Amino acid sequence: MAGRATPGNRRLRSPARRALLVAGGSTALASVAGGGLVRGAEAAGAKRAAGGRDGYVPRPAPTQYDFTVAEQAMSPDGGPAVTAVTVNGTIPGPEIRVREGETLRVLVRDGLPSTPTTIHWHGLLVPAGMDGVPGISNAPIAPRQMYVYEYPIRQTGTYWYHSHYGFQEQQGMYGAFVIEEAHDRVRADRDAVVLLGDWLHRAPAAVFAALRGEQDRAAPPSPAPDPGDARAAAMKSMPAMPGTSGRAGADLSDVAYPSFLLNGRGPASPWTLEVRPGERVRLRLVNGGASTYFRVQLDGHALEVTHADGLAVQPVVVDEILMGMGETYDVVVKVARAGSFTLHAVAQDGSGQAVGVLHTPGVAASPSTEMPPPGARLLQYAQLRAPEPTTLPEGPVKSFRLPLQGDMKSYVWMIDGQAWPKADPLEISPGDRVQVELVNQTMMWHPMHLHGHFFRVLNGAGDLCPLKHTVNVAPGETLRFEFIADNPGKWFFHCHNAYHLEAGMAREFVYVI
Ligand code: C2O
Ligand code: CU
Repeated sequence: MAGRATPGNRRLRSPARRALLVAGGSTALASVAGGGLVRGAEAAGAKRAAGGRDGYVPRPAPTQYDFTVAEQAMSPDGGPAVTAVTVNGTIPGPEIRVREGETLRVLVRDGLPSTPTTIHWHGLLVPAGMDGVPGISNAPIAPRQMYVYEYPIRQTGTYWYHSHYGFQEQQGMYGAFVIEEAHDRVRADRDAVVLLGDWLHRAPAAVFAALRGEQDRAAPPSPAPDPGDARAAAMKSMPAMPGTSGRAGADLSDVAYPSFLLNGRGPASPWTLEVRPGERVRLRLVNGGASTYFRVQLDGHALEVTHADGLAVQPVVVDEILMGMGETYDVVVKVARAGSFTLHAVAQDGSGQAVGVLHTPGVAASPSTEMPPPGARLLQYAQLRAPEPTTLPEGPVKSFRLPLQGDMKSYVWMIDGQAWPKADPLEISPGDRVQVELVNQTMMWHPMHLHGHFFRVLNGAGDLCPLKHTVNVAPGETLRFEFIADNPGKWFFHCHNAYHLEAGMAREFVYVI
């Protein structure tokens, strides 16, 4: 595969390697909850040395990927070809797979005819200058220019990368990013990424302009409405999902999508994975959609959730996960019997789904096109527990109350009365315990994402509050999180709905002396 200098091993766990696996030892937690990044990395090293049975040797040279960003007509769903922004010619871009403790180097060439680009490493604890946000952490890469992202890997788990420039992510510029643990606590026979996306048949800028234009449309829409717009209007007011604190009549989507993608494929020719009865299969679920919440289910199987946003949680068994944009979950499924089982990712507004198929040898992969009803057991944040205490070190408390505001009609989305970029920085200092209260005053869901840090979601789990980098705030909900200010720089904090972000739902945390 273009760009991969070091071979990856997607098929997991030779018996020899499995013998090396030991339980426990969440190095990722050490690197986060331990306060300092360097300290965390050292703690991980110390733990390995102390274990004394470590077959893991860091590679001597950085793992390198070569990325070329380009514009090309693509039809991942078999529909009309539209202009996509790709990495190395594919949607999604190449999967990055590294091992804990490595150094990663990614050489990015901007091959776009006239547009700059950047790459953001979503969920990674990178130095601020590697974070890839135009105007905050990096200048965008100009057309024909190159940029080298290089940083040490200080965590483990399932992440992803995407452009942080304009709507390039919506146009296909995203990919999975997996960091394998030296000592993996998950016992699995197979390991696969499931990267969800949404796909338009027109330019996202035009979609955004239409959303924005609604404020001027007192009367019903223009003479020849896009069929998608009509569908969106019909679906805008749906009952809130059960089990949420939302008000009745939440708005479940901004944009009507003709297709949803799973590993870059539409339902007409879905991604498939051959599995054997009885096997434990680890699925690394990533919601890389630009503005779609997905309900994820696997026909005939429960999902054992082992990780949230890359980090381990105490395993919890559910039937369905509602995933916001930017969230990741690792789940293990035990293949129940011979057969073909459809993995459904149903758009929250019910307008369609992405599918994949797990099937056993000799059984044809036959996707079920039905959209399943909500699962009996829906994962709730209150069920997430870290395996080890995540309490923050002592430090001065810095509190922010941040109302989330906006509506479909005006299509201005704000944080505490301000729309990015005309917004004040949120100032913090190294060592602060930063407490954030998000008050969703809108009728929509917002997956709020913080760059460069994990935060503790204050979900009532006491010392074991889970660590995440992206958190869904339901309509009308108030949600709190806290993090330790241990990664100096300027860090974006924003709604991961691409259209809400473009309309202003963002702030930056800025470290000051
Ligand atoms: Cu994945 Cu600022 O985003
Ligand atoms: Cu939002």
